[in-house]
Amino acid sequence: MTAAPALGTVHLLPQTRQLRALHTIIRDRHVAREQFVAASGRIIRQLMETALDLLPYEPWDVPTPVGRTYPGLRHASAICGVPVVRAGESMEPELRAIMPGVPIGKILIQRDKVTKLPRLYYSALPADIDRRQVLLMDPMLATGGTALAAIEVLLGRGVEVDDMVFVTLLAAPEGIAAVHARHPGLRIVTSAVEERLNENAYMVPGIGDFGDRYFGTDITR
Ligand code: PRP
Ligand code: URA
Repeated sequence: MTAAPALGTVHLLPQTRQLRALHTIIRDRHVAREQFVAASGRIIRQLMETALDLLPYEPWDVPTPVGRTYPGLRHASAICGVPVVRAGESMEPELRAIMPGVPIGKILIQRDKVTKLPRLYYSALPADIDRRQVLLMDPMLATGGTALAAIEVLLGRGVEVDDMVFVTLLAAPEGIAAVHARHPGLRIVTSAVEERLNENAYMVPGIGDFGDRYFGTDITR
């Protein structure tokens, strides 16, 4: 097996001009929903590719059409995607596009609108999830309460923290600290570490409510 990068770190996407332009679209409160969905999808694709690079690989030689052997690599273990419903489901299509047959579990957690505390409603996970590398997907890591609750569900099913990667579009320092205080080894992949949380536990500068903007439930009548 080839060595994977160290555990317990925050893997921040390279802050390219292209990524900054995509952030500019999703952070703009006036942008149309189609643009928000398209730009966030492009960032999520990058996050997924980065997360997949953190998983274990093993040597795998293939013959090339010109008679050479290419000393390649392939994933060394089975993989599973687990979006936190609802907003995490925005990340599922990007993983499926890369790995069409990948099993997908679901964990439904909602953050209470007033207390901001997470409530677990439902989970459905592959029976052999404890033998898989798990990409836990939620685009927003704010207080960290939802992530911690989702991690508990996975731990309860026998998944080791070292076999999880938390994939998130934006992360607050408070959320990263909360998650790493309980699980120092957890790897987090993100496209931005925000300044802080505001008094309503939303990230600043942030993008507002990701789920509402992605799924179109923020329309005021
Ligand atoms: C949002 C977001 C995360 C959570 C993050 O979900 O998608 O799941 O809040 O906040 P935390 O780190 O403070 O727990 P929300 O519960 O609003 O539901 P949604 O997915 O339906 O938008
Ligand atoms: N959930 C969101 O959708 N956005 C935030 O900034 C925090 C939690």
